Amino acid sequence: MFTSQHGGNIREAAALTGLNAEQLIDFSANINPLGMPDTLRRAIIGNLDAAERYPDPDYLALHQALANHHGLPQTWMMAGNGETELIFQLLSHLAPRHALLLTPGFAEYRRALARTGCRITDFPLAESDGWQPDRRLLAALTPELDCLILCTPNNPTGLMPDRQLLEAIITRCGECGITLVVDEAFIDFLPDATGCIPWLAGHPHLWVLRSLTKFYAIPGLRLGYLINSDAQQVAALRSQREPWTINAFAALAGEIILDDRPYQQATRQWLARERPILFDGLAALPDVTVWPGQANYLFFRYDGDEDLQRRLLEQQILIRSCANYPGLERRYFRVAVKSHADNAALIAALTHITGGTNRGG
Ligand SMILES: Cc1ncc(COP(=O)(O)O)c(C=O)c1O
Repeated sequence: MFTSQHGGNIREAAALTGLNAEQLIDFSANINPLGMPDTLRRAIIGNLDAAERYPDPDYLALHQALANHHGLPQTWMMAGNGETELIFQLLSHLAPRHALLLTPGFAEYRRALARTGCRITDFPLAESDGWQPDRRLLAALTPELDCLILCTPNNPTGLMPDRQLLEAIITRCGECGITLVVDEAFIDFLPDATGCIPWLAGHPHLWVLRSLTKFYAIPGLRLGYLINSDAQQVAALRSQREPWTINAFAALAGEIILDDRPYQQATRQWLARERPILFDGLAALPDVTVWPGQANYLFFRYDGDEDLQRRLLEQQILIRSCANYPGLERRYFRVAVKSHADNAALIAALTHITGGTNRGG
């Protein structure tokens, strides 16, 4: 129905329905419904003058804040104008010849690799394996390849690969001369998850990419970062950058939000409360199979006859159809976990459309 590759295109959805974008409840973009931290809102309002100066081209304070947050050297970090900018910049810098991509997965990796002329081999995840990779992925890692991309948790499934498998993948990639790019855009939503950062030291073939736009609800401000333990590689990347791509307010955000423990705690409490309710609501619908995603979104299959996305739009609700993900088709959908009231509205609408008997919650 949409030309857009991603969720969150409420302008296009609204145009299709003749509504204003503000009238839609958007479940298609996975953004923290608590909104940006108050600490940040106040800092931006108090620092509007920053727009009148060029940001520090080295973003020293920002890199130091990221380094402090992770207890790692700031020379291992490079911030970007959202993680997406870093995906493109890193892959153009690495210029791999032959990459392995897991499907379904986040679309921008395929685009960034295609831009560098890289050959892409797909590694299809199977529904019969619960959409999870297993040791067959290890067997597929041969010196023929020089790049592997992993999203942990994956998008759209929200699932985390087994930690032992992940460790074996890092080792295997090192042995085969494969650069491993691990995308942890949603990992902050998993309480206590350290992801691959503890493995960075001694593994210069491992790159970790993170986004701050989802957890801290700043997709319009844009901020992400990458980490790699080879300071020289990171310095080379930094030296190739166009100057000032991170605006002053995004840089300020990075210096503030990582220390906002009350916001982080409130977010984790909201998700621990709301995701199980949404999961149960979806699981109780007729013809729906939902997977136990661990991030702030849930992935499901609907085998009934209704055009779910269109029917929900009639009720001013936008969900993400996953039909344009390689490896999926029109029966698959992804929905963000939102506020209690919004989640209840989604379940009520779906119950009505599918003829279910959910009582809501
Ligand atoms: C897996 C994954 N990585 C990266 C991004 C991009 O994040 P950012 O908004 O920081 O560019 C997204 C956005 O949806 C994503 O799903």
